[in-house]
Amino acid sequence: MSPRVAFTPGAMLTGRRAVVTGGAAGIGAAIARSLAAHGADVLVADVDPAGDLDHDPAAGGRLHAIEADVCAQQVHPALIDHRPDILVSNVGHFLRAPQPFTADTAEQWSRLHEINLGHGFRLTHALLPGMTERGRGGSIINLTTVEAHRAIPGHTVYSAYKAALMQFTRSLAAEVGAAGIRVNAIAPDLINSAQVPYDDIVPAEDLPLWPTWSPLGGPGQPEDVAGVALFLASDLSRFVTGSTIHVDGGTHGSGGWVPRAAGGWTNRPRNP
Ligand SMILES: NC(=O)c1ccc[n+]([C@@H]2O[C@H](COP(=O)([O-])OP(=O)(O)OC[C@H]3O[C@@H](n4cnc5c(N)ncnc54)[C@H](O)[C@@H]3O)[C@@H](O)[C@H]2O)c1
Repeated sequence: MSPRVAFTPGAMLTGRRAVVTGGAAGIGAAIARSLAAHGADVLVADVDPAGDLDHDPAAGGRLHAIEADVCAQQVHPALIDHRPDILVSNVGHFLRAPQPFTADTAEQWSRLHEINLGHGFRLTHALLPGMTERGRGGSIINLTTVEAHRAIPGHTVYSAYKAALMQFTRSLAAEVGAAGIRVNAIAPDLINSAQVPYDDIVPAEDLPLWPTWSPLGGPGQPEDVAGVALFLASDLSRFVTGSTIHVDGGTHGSGGWVPRAAGGWTNRPRNP
């Protein structure tokens, strides 16, 4: 590692190649756009690749997409051929309405495993050897959730797999750090997307309640996560690995404390 990093204005990822899973919508699309806007050649893998992927080529980067189901047992060869320096494992979902753990089926566990954890293992396993051999270092970014760090009743197994992804992030970071490859996680909450369309699901009369749901209010936007992904993908974070960055307006940090209407704070709200 050179003793100084040049914080010059302009593109931060020129000459780098990235793969973003689930990058055609929501958080993944915002991440893909931000990496390309900073000069990366970004390949998106999505089951529905006709997404929100506007890119101004003047930025120097490239943004293209292939149709690929990351839960398939074979990694799509185009992802390996792309020779990425940056992997963003963004696909993840709770898949069903909340239900008691005892109502779960093993088939549901298996689908939750694939979409939240298994595909991340498989893709990292397929792409990491190339990153190591090329000797250019790399950055792997895993999308977890605030619920890897706190409870989510009704989604017990989802939260367990996301917590496992966070722990995978830590241990892998320790394993590959010597190769200059960094592994970090982002734990979002309250980000407006197709998965959780807060703009549609929060009734107008509840909008004034946002400041009681998170210290920064809300909802957050996919771009709020993309800024952190850009930081983790670039040399700005060159001494950061094994970490999770919470992009949640402060819900994790505040841990249930809410402002009282009359002033002050409580962790025992009367009308939750
Ligand atoms: N939005 C939030 O507030 C929030 C909160 C916690 C965690 N997260 C995590 O952030 C990540 C992104 O969330 P989002 O809200 O943008 O999701 P989203 O559901 O809005 O978008 C997901 C994208 O992934 C694609 N996709 C789904 N299954 C796929 C598959 N098998 N193979 C390839 N592509 C697939 C979809 O087509 C879509 O483009 C997820 O891992 C999610 O668990 C989001």
